[in-house]
Amino acid sequence: MKTNAGALLSSIRIDRNARRKISVQLYMGLKEILLSGGVNPGERLPATRTLAKEIGVSRTTVIDAVDRLTAEGLLEARVGAGTFVSEALAGQRAAVAPARPAASKPADHHLSRAARHAQRFLAPRSWLPHKSQAFITALPALDLFPMAHWARLSARHWRAGREDVMGYGHPSGYQPLREAISTHLNAARGIKCDPQQIFIVSGAQQAFFLIATLLLNPGDHVWFENPGAIGARNAFVAGGADIVPVEVDDEGLSLADGLRKAPHFRLAFVTPSHQQPLGQVMSLSRRLALLGAAEDADALIVEDDYDGEFYYGDQPQPPLKSIDTQERVIYVGTFSKSLFPSLRLGFVLAPRGLESAFAEISAAWLSGVPTATQAIVADFMNEGLFSTHIRVMRQAYKARHDALIEATADLSERIDVHPTSSGFHTVGLLPDDADEDGIVAGARQQGIVVAALSRYSAAPIGRKGLVLGFGGVTPEEIRRGVHKLRSLPELAP
Ligand SMILES: Cc1ncc(COP(=O)(O)O)c(C=O)c1O
Repeated sequence: MKTNAGALLSSIRIDRNARRKISVQLYMGLKEILLSGGVNPGERLPATRTLAKEIGVSRTTVIDAVDRLTAEGLLEARVGAGTFVSEALAGQRAAVAPARPAASKPADHHLSRAARHAQRFLAPRSWLPHKSQAFITALPALDLFPMAHWARLSARHWRAGREDVMGYGHPSGYQPLREAISTHLNAARGIKCDPQQIFIVSGAQQAFFLIATLLLNPGDHVWFENPGAIGARNAFVAGGADIVPVEVDDEGLSLADGLRKAPHFRLAFVTPSHQQPLGQVMSLSRRLALLGAAEDADALIVEDDYDGEFYYGDQPQPPLKSIDTQERVIYVGTFSKSLFPSLRLGFVLAPRGLESAFAEISAAWLSGVPTATQAIVADFMNEGLFSTHIRVMRQAYKARHDALIEATADLSERIDVHPTSSGFHTVGLLPDDADEDGIVAGARQQGIVVAALSRYSAAPIGRKGLVLGFGGVTPEEIRRGVHKLRSLPELAP
């Protein structure tokens, strides 16, 4: 008669097509049974030869798995008597969770109040994409990236002194990169700053978390563009903020709406260079009025300049930071659009007076961004490759933008694609009775990706539309994508 252990152990299934090695599958299977209490401590295991035959693997594979479990103390080998389930497991039983709970039991009571607040108000966000496709919004033109230069600078970095490339970096960031960014902001964006105000973070998203941690108390009112950026909203929500959805009109964030809803706001979040997601540029008068409103409320402003480098219109506006005479603006930059997103590299330009708080908190909590990444980007900037890349990309995005506008011109009754003057996404407004989600799903079936405007809204906006990215693919692919869009029943001309 089979022992309990024998019956259970021989039920282990091996998947020969799986990527995981057979010996590892067997080891994991045995371990799961031992830990789940399926066999009794002290019970003898069947002979390895028998197990091998019943599971359908070689005896060496079984011996390997048994040896590993013996080394871990879950099995005991007794000379001349065989292998036994360890007695040590007896005391552990109650503490060990069943290997596969029938249904995952919610463990919400372990969550903090802050996490529960966040869960209630977070905007759903799927995985950000890694592959270019018409009309994905988050990816720059990976096809045009100067990879040969990048590889050369990367190889050069790894040949530098070992301590320089392998030790912990400075928590505020690699000094040559802070200097290169500050030089670039002065020259290209008209922003006066010095390197000590620049803090290197792993993408704008980390900058938003840092800002929330440093500046917001639970319940603080944060003016937030509606529709607006999803990631930044989630970071402030996670910090316990009370998000105040503020309307966006043709000139940008509506101050009248903000002041009506929350005159005592503590922070305002804006994307003045290229509103995320609608695509317009904030007017100069609105910028000045926003600075005034922040001054009146003793509030700060977060300027997310995520793709401001790519302006191809004919009336460029100065970044808010460059006209901020009262040190109210915290400027956030990212290399996700100007270079590529897997770098996970961004920066915060702290207003004067807050640099030391940013420095202290960064040193206390963050351990920095990989030095290699920072050093390569610093060289890329210092050798002039960054500004050349931006110039080339600006033209490419203009060409891709024009291709989208031309290809959708005759669809304007069904989807009114707005021209934009910056960056690489825009919005296509739909009639009021349109089914945004239906169109998104239909497009997906055609192999193209569009995002519903409602995804970006913290409160209903009374408009329907699709957010369309045009930066990641060639004009030809854009035209093919529009051809697929027009095959959707809702968008047929
Ligand atoms: C509005 C906005 N800001 C910033 C970013 C960049 O974030 P990160 O630097 O974390 O990649 C994105 C990315 O899609 C964005 O949409």
